[in-house]
Amino acid sequence: MNRTDGEPTRIYLIGVGPGDPELLTLRAARLIERCDVLLHAGPSDRSGFAVEVIGPLLRSGQRTQGMALSMKRGPDDGSVGYDRVARALLEHASEGRTVAFLTEGDPLLFGTSSYVLEHLQAIAPCVAVEVVPGVSAISAAAARLGWPLAQKAEVLTICPATYHAEQLGTLLERGGSICLLKAAGVLPTIVAELRRRGRLDRAALIEKVGRPDERIFRNLEEALGQDLSYFSLVLVR
Ligand SMILES: C[S@@+](CC[C@H](N)C(=O)[O-])C[C@H]1O[C@@H](n2cnc3c(N)ncnc32)[C@H](O)[C@@H]1O
Repeated sequence: MNRTDGEPTRIYLIGVGPGDPELLTLRAARLIERCDVLLHAGPSDRSGFAVEVIGPLLRSGQRTQGMALSMKRGPDDGSVGYDRVARALLEHASEGRTVAFLTEGDPLLFGTSSYVLEHLQAIAPCVAVEVVPGVSAISAAAARLGWPLAQKAEVLTICPATYHAEQLGTLLERGGSICLLKAAGVLPTIVAELRRRGRLDRAALIEKVGRPDERIFRNLEEALGQDLSYFSLVLVR
């Protein structure tokens, strides 16, 4: 596939960072400016976490396209949509448009883009894909708290907590810093396990780090009973 201007087709999978547009990389910002169409996981063209992050960069004439992927665990957890995203990217590119798919944080760290990349590689192995790394919410949360994530010989554990509620106790016993993603739905279990292991005062929850409505709970018990966003993580040091 070649663009009408002779440039080879390249599809971009761009990490937009955790929420603050200032945390976009220069490469991400430049490519976003250049794109004709920006696809993202959100429910509609102008709403969704990733597209809202890059809102200040959008110029008139640029199209955004929400792909309405579900973020929930379960049979409709988005997997049915990855192929749809890959095919939409290919269609835009084959029609000569510069196109990208946006993901919050880093694209390949539990990111939707990692699946989209696999689908692209399977259905169009000759099309060049560039992945643009982004600042992960984990790094942003650690920076916000002023907590080192890992030093010297320490092991850093990153766990999608909704999938491992039963193993949280074992994970906490391993020591080292722990980052629990997808934490909102299993917060009571997280709090109970931290309390049991005397680590409750060494944990914090951050919701929507970098966004204007960011919330930080340094006392996790205060977060219990709150209506927490999917974009919440717990750091334990
Ligand atoms: C599918 S993972 C995506 C991680 C992302 N690719 C990254 O590098 O940060 C989604 C989880 O990341 C965490 N997350 C993503 N963005 C966040 C933010 N701005 N604030 C807090 N947690 C966030 C939440 O735990 C959320 O459930």
